[in-house]
Amino acid sequence: MKSLKIYDQQHQWFILAREDVKGKSLIETNQYMVRNGERTLIIDPGGVELFAPMLSSVLQNVPIDQVTDLFASHQDPDVISSLNLWDQVLTNAKLHAPSIWEGFIRHFGLNNVEYVSVKDDGGVVDLGGLQLQIIPAHYLHSSGNIHLYDKEAKILFSGDVGAALEEPASPMYVDDFNEHISKMEYFHKRWMPSNTAKSNWIERVSRLEIDILCPQHGRMFKGDDVKRFLDWFDQLPVGIAV
Ligand SMILES: [Fe+2]
Ligand SMILES: [Fe+2]
Repeated sequence: MKSLKIYDQQHQWFILAREDVKGKSLIETNQYMVRNGERTLIIDPGGVELFAPMLSSVLQNVPIDQVTDLFASHQDPDVISSLNLWDQVLTNAKLHAPSIWEGFIRHFGLNNVEYVSVKDDGGVVDLGGLQLQIIPAHYLHSSGNIHLYDKEAKILFSGDVGAALEEPASPMYVDDFNEHISKMEYFHKRWMPSNTAKSNWIERVSRLEIDILCPQHGRMFKGDDVKRFLDWFDQLPVGIAV
């Protein structure tokens, strides 16, 4: 684990943990946590190789029986291949994940954690009274893909949308948007398959108030850079392999 930072967001806080994968041929990932009272949600808990340091980081802040919810934006191994290990330590938890991936994600091993199947039109995660909105993001990039929006903190956890491929230990936030484009462009052109899905998603999230956009890879966007990202993504042709 490269770093662990805690942000206060009025009545709640979240942790960002970043994986240091230098020299390992793995993609660097961000893991996020939202806590409200005695309920804690881990967003895109990460790969199997990351489980031990993740668990240790979580336990420094939260008793294990208060880790009540997991969220998987989609089925990829960098998102949720640690599931079987979480399943062995969580005694009373739910996994919120896309309905169409249930039969696939269960292959990671699921005996104790309850799979809450999120329908295509999204829904809500009620974290002890904190209503986190599940935003459909299908085909961005997975065919069944969901994001999570915290209306109180004005944070959108955007999975692979906004992802950048860059050096581990890069700064937490984008500081020069134009310079950051070169780290995002290939990822979005190659891993995002649908221009229609992209336009639908931009229309959907443009109605939200977003102070911070938190992708699963690379730096976060805050303030004006959120709008800059949406405008840049809007004009980018995607679904290009060669
Ligand atoms: Fe992915
Ligand atoms: Fe990813």
